[in-house]
Amino acid sequence: MGALHLLFLTLSAVAITAVTAHNITDMLAPLPDYSVFNKYLTETKLADEINTRDSITVLVLNNAAMTALAGNHPPSVIKNALRLHVLLDYYDPTKLHKISEGSVLTTTLYQTTGNAPGKLGFVNITDLKGGKVGFGSAAPGSKLDSSYTKSVKQLPYNISVLEINQPIIAPGILTAPAPSASDVNITAALEKAGCKTFVQLITSSGVLKVFESAVSKGLTLFAPSDEAFKAKGVPDLGKLTNAELVSLLQYHALASYTPFGTLKTTKAPITTLATNGAGKYDLKVKTAGDSVTLDTGVDSSRVASTVVDATPLCIFTVDNVLLPADLFGKSPSPAPGPAPEVSPSPAPSGPVPAPAPGSAAAPSPFLSPPAPPTSAPAGGPAEGPAAESQNSSSDDSAGVVIAPAVVQALVSVALSVIISVLLS
Ligand SMILES: *[C@@H]1O[C@H](CO)[C@@H](O)[C@H](O)[C@H]1NC(C)=O
Ligand SMILES: *[C@@H]1O[C@H](CO)[C@@H](O)[C@H](O)[C@H]1NC(C)=O
Ligand SMILES: *[C@@H]1O[C@H](CO)[C@@H](O)[C@H](O)[C@H]1NC(C)=O
Ligand SMILES: *[C@@H]1O[C@H](CO)[C@@H](O)[C@H](O)[C@H]1NC(C)=O
Repeated sequence: MGALHLLFLTLSAVAITAVTAHNITDMLAPLPDYSVFNKYLTETKLADEINTRDSITVLVLNNAAMTALAGNHPPSVIKNALRLHVLLDYYDPTKLHKISEGSVLTTTLYQTTGNAPGKLGFVNITDLKGGKVGFGSAAPGSKLDSSYTKSVKQLPYNISVLEINQPIIAPGILTAPAPSASDVNITAALEKAGCKTFVQLITSSGVLKVFESAVSKGLTLFAPSDEAFKAKGVPDLGKLTNAELVSLLQYHALASYTPFGTLKTTKAPITTLATNGAGKYDLKVKTAGDSVTLDTGVDSSRVASTVVDATPLCIFTVDNVLLPADLFGKSPSPAPGPAPEVSPSPAPSGPVPAPAPGSAAAPSPFLSPPAPPTSAPAGGPAEGPAAESQNSSSDDSAGVVIAPAVVQALVSVALSVIISVLLS
């Protein structure tokens, strides 16, 4: 009985640990001085990245300072500038005034983008005379232009929010802007990332044009690697009607800017570009530690790497072709009318009975000698946090890393406590 009680306590503690404990948007919401800062955290989706991390410090700017920083800069530039204001360490006012040797360099979220050469991704915190604390870029020659003004909020030792009087600017961060979405050549980026088959398909089907016209309002692509199309179990795409192929390809896209940190916090099923009145075409997101998996109801795939994160465009690679249940669901189709074998019909837009995933009787143009369905993208490590930051070629990231080791350690401590109690 006691043991059972403890078991419940331990299990719930573990469950809480795996879930994010803070919500920066909610923390700042009651504070009108930071409403502009908060608005930008939401728009750039940095809020999601902040919410998936522990032991961090957010240096906030009041509305006037934040408005001045944002200026007319594109979202991707503002996002990088704000990333420099998220320190990957917990500093409450006490710790600020107790910095050893009076000065320290601390890592920021900007460093995790892999696009901050030298010390650009670090912030210098220096305990100045008279109780003043100065902040500045750690890049050589930078001044400590920003000062700590006051403590805003702390949830020890998860997140600390401190106000500084001026933005911290790293050299070049505002003037040499991160690539904006309009600079990104989608097909070139996909080809470079090893997704040539996907490029061929979206080009020949005309879906590329749909993607390109969606970019300005926000677009996220999940591009299957070339290996993914060769894997066993991938249906013969040559047997799909045009409309089905278009739906399948549009199923690999979201009509929103959804960077990795945001994917991680997504709980409800997400709609895709293929979603329409007649078909759900949705995806479920599953997160385990650093890994994000997309579940279609028919198959699932790991999100393997971030190819582009340039607000408002995100491109990821995925290990498997995402097979929408609307086309490939195994359940006997509700069949509005008889199901013809395959008719190259002029494209009904509703759910169309399709060949079952296993029934690749005819050789697929994409089918080739055995490739394991779960094979990792060429050149990338198959597992582990490092996989997420591979191939990051743009202004981001996917460097979003929550130490899975912490969760693991907690789970194993919990289990050993349970076992020892049960044995005693
Ligand atoms: C954080 O709070 C905002 C505003 O209440 C909400 O829209 C958002 O979904 C929350 N985020 C998470 C991860 O719960
Ligand atoms: C921080 O900046 C100050 C002023 O430029 C410099 O004297 C100090 O050495 C820097 N601290 C570190 C840890 O580099
Ligand atoms: C800090 O986060 C942990 C879980 O990550 C949570 O259990 C704890 O309550 C949080 N502390 C505060 C003060 O919110
Ligand atoms: C984009 O890259 C492709 C190669 O993948 C190239 O053929 C095309 O001309 C490029 N488009 C633009 C607008 O530069």
